[in-house]
Amino acid sequence: MALTSNAGYVLLIYLSLILVSTARPIYPLPSKTSNGSRQPLQTSRPYNIAHRGSNGEIPEETAAAYMRAIEEGTDFIETDILSSKDGVLICFHDVTLDDTTDIAEHKEFTNRKRSYDVQGVNTTGFFTVDFTLKELKTLRVKQRYAFRDQQYNGKFSIITFEEFISIALDAPRVVGIYPEMKNPVFINQHVKWPGGKRFEDKFVETLKKYGYKGSYMSKDWLKQPVFIQSFAPTSLVYASDLIDSPKIFLIDDVTIPTQDTNQSYWEITSDAYLDYIKDYVVGIGPWKDTVVPVVNNYLQTPTDLVARAHSHNLQVHPYTYRNEEMFLHFNFHQDPYEEYDYWINKIGVDGLFTDFTGSLHNFLEWTSPLSKNNIGDDSATKLLNKIASLVASYKN
Ligand SMILES: *[C@@H]1O[C@H](CO)[C@@H](O)[C@H](O)[C@H]1NC(C)=O
Ligand SMILES: *[C@@H]1O[C@H](CO)[C@@H](O)[C@H](O)[C@H]1NC(C)=O
Ligand SMILES: *[C@@H]1O[C@H](CO)[C@@H](O)[C@H](O)[C@H]1NC(C)=O
Repeated sequence: MALTSNAGYVLLIYLSLILVSTARPIYPLPSKTSNGSRQPLQTSRPYNIAHRGSNGEIPEETAAAYMRAIEEGTDFIETDILSSKDGVLICFHDVTLDDTTDIAEHKEFTNRKRSYDVQGVNTTGFFTVDFTLKELKTLRVKQRYAFRDQQYNGKFSIITFEEFISIALDAPRVVGIYPEMKNPVFINQHVKWPGGKRFEDKFVETLKKYGYKGSYMSKDWLKQPVFIQSFAPTSLVYASDLIDSPKIFLIDDVTIPTQDTNQSYWEITSDAYLDYIKDYVVGIGPWKDTVVPVVNNYLQTPTDLVARAHSHNLQVHPYTYRNEEMFLHFNFHQDPYEEYDYWINKIGVDGLFTDFTGSLHNFLEWTSPLSKNNIGDDSATKLLNKIASLVASYKN
């Protein structure tokens, strides 16, 4: 433990030195190690999806947060894709820079503050779409929540979608990516690409450039796993004409209509809609508190959403699991492992977006360890083991 965290710390110092001293991509493009000899993605237990990297520990969507998540055993690194003013796709969650960067300290940008309509809300701040990539690279990212570790504030820069992909491709084992086409309506209003291309076109072009392709569980997919996610049905339908990679339809809170088609929560979670969307997506990503409603910080009776999604052959990857007490419902006795146990073993979800990849990984390793023989590509050995365990259970 001590060794690992020391090594991680040294790596972070090293990374921060590089990041502060250069604005060029720090990862060689394209990947040098993606040669098929690495430990494959596990597919026998629910997916560990590192929400914005290990952002419970390190400022969200930075290279360091993603590398930490890989170190901690994630299956997928998750990110939000937005655009700079000059059309470069970047990893950043909010349309404004205010809450998670040091933009307020950059006096040279004071006159860049704007007010725009973002999904029906008049929003004021410094928008990524008003800054070139070069300008964005001069900013430093900071921790979103005051109760989390602040020591990394100011150390890391915003990364591009391409840099993010390189981190996954250069990982020591197969690590998938889980990028979101974020705020597509807003981005397409504010950023114009040559040849009339849309945000979704640039997004898919980037994936293809680095070799992402293939339907869920295909050979190509297992080599470079990806889930494309979006809250906007029209973006998912549009992207499905461009790439056959699996897609996940994100579902917002019950009061929030879809940003593009203005459909209600009840409409998009109806059986009729699940039946329609299953032609375009392999699963849904709902907010966990809508799957199991919460009153006074106690869980209520679970809805039938997971059962209905499964009956339409759709996976369910709820968001977002967080260790801290202000996010843990009282039923879980302040124990994040109890929360994982409930969602994995009682509700039966297929993947979990977590701010603390290490905790979810530990839980899964302790409760359903991957046997040595499941790691590696030897399906004959796997089959023999399966037969052996069947025989053994008969004997008992
Ligand atoms: C694959 O990549 C690893 C890590 O860089 C390297 O050690 C190994 O020699 C490569 N194998 C092949 C067949 O190129
Ligand atoms: C949006 O908010 C800003 C800042 O409060 C305000 O100046 C502007 O008039 C508002 N715009 C609209 C259309 O309400
Ligand atoms: C979205 O739908 C609601 C409810 O049907 C309606 O009241 C609202 O005006 C619609 N908004 C837009 C922007 O079309």
